[in-house]
Amino acid sequence: MTAALPLTLDQPLLHGTRLGELRMPNRVVMAPLTRARADNPGLVPTELHAAYYGQRAGAGLIVTEGTWVSERAIGFVNVPGVYSEAQVAGWRRVTDVVHTLGGRIVQQLWHTGAASHPDHLRGEPPAGPSAIDPRARTFTPGGFKETLTPRAMTADDIRATVAEFRAAAANARRAGFDGVEIGALGAFLFTQFLNPLLNHRTDAYGGDRAGRRRLLLDVVDAVTAEWDGRRVGVRLAPYMAATERFVVDEELLADYDELVTELNERPLAYLHLRGPDLAGPGESPDFEAFARYRKRFEGPLIANNGFDRDSANALVDAGHADAVSFATHFVANPDLVGRFALGRELAAGDPATYYQGGAKGYADYPAAG
Ligand SMILES: Cc1cc2nc3c(=O)[nH]c(=O)nc-3n(C[C@H](O)[C@H](O)[C@H](O)COP(=O)(O)O)c2cc1C
Repeated sequence: MTAALPLTLDQPLLHGTRLGELRMPNRVVMAPLTRARADNPGLVPTELHAAYYGQRAGAGLIVTEGTWVSERAIGFVNVPGVYSEAQVAGWRRVTDVVHTLGGRIVQQLWHTGAASHPDHLRGEPPAGPSAIDPRARTFTPGGFKETLTPRAMTADDIRATVAEFRAAAANARRAGFDGVEIGALGAFLFTQFLNPLLNHRTDAYGGDRAGRRRLLLDVVDAVTAEWDGRRVGVRLAPYMAATERFVVDEELLADYDELVTELNERPLAYLHLRGPDLAGPGESPDFEAFARYRKRFEGPLIANNGFDRDSANALVDAGHADAVSFATHFVANPDLVGRFALGRELAAGDPATYYQGGAKGYADYPAAG
């Protein structure tokens, strides 16, 4: 439990703003949270998803859990997709509930690339930039398993993947979403391509910085050709060493600087930046990291990682971000914006139920009394 804070509506987080075409009554964003509740063969979101997201409709903006753009994007158990008609219908119910309750919701698009396992892919090996194991762990129906050496994607694989992202964005629009977020973080597809240790390609999608970022930029271009770019966000986590095969150093940060410069040439709703992890418990987020990207990225910025009410207000007040996203706080505080406004205590979620099926620890956290 966090201690009660004074009641005050005079918080920068509670002022409305606009990210591209997304107009928000407050600056509290629900960050994407994989919750693994689509435990049905078609990976279709259900009434339980609609209830869970509906409970959180007070957020200025909800970003959904990462969702599969295609069957071959799959790399985690019971995560819903957005590639089939049944999934689109399930998501339509979710967006209807959120909109009826006054909220806004964008869909995060996810592809795990090499960080998958044959158990997810009907026995086929996963594919990534090169035949190099990202040394990640993947949650399969048989529990967590180590990744293996993947197959290197062919030019056809890359073309198909770009097309799948575009089709998924079209599906998200049909499902009633307000936009999409391209998830380019963790040990997954785009960060594999951006990573010189995993991308040894000699074609246009590797070789140098420009080559390594080409896949992500091609996907941004395809998605923004499908849907107004002011409804498309990109999520980056330059400081995230997802596995031992991901090294965060000045060279990598320079790659991201150039990537962000290229993103400036595209019309985007926002950049969603996951900053460095906190230096330790009770420490504050590193404002300098957000200031660096604030200076570089010309569009709206959503900041994330380790914020509480006061540090988030301070960051927005300092002008380092337009909005702040919260993941773990939204697990157990569906009415997080109300709790911030009223100075209520925050409840702590139970990590044992993060990825465990059913309503328990998912849609059964009450609003503050
Ligand atoms: C259970 C859980 C699931 C997550 N799933 C996703 C996801 O699907 N996509 C994503 O981009 N980040 C995901 N994240 C990362 C969060 O969005 C966020 O970056 C991280 O929790 C730090 O924010 P916080 O300090 O507010 O919790 C997940 C985090 C947790 C704890």
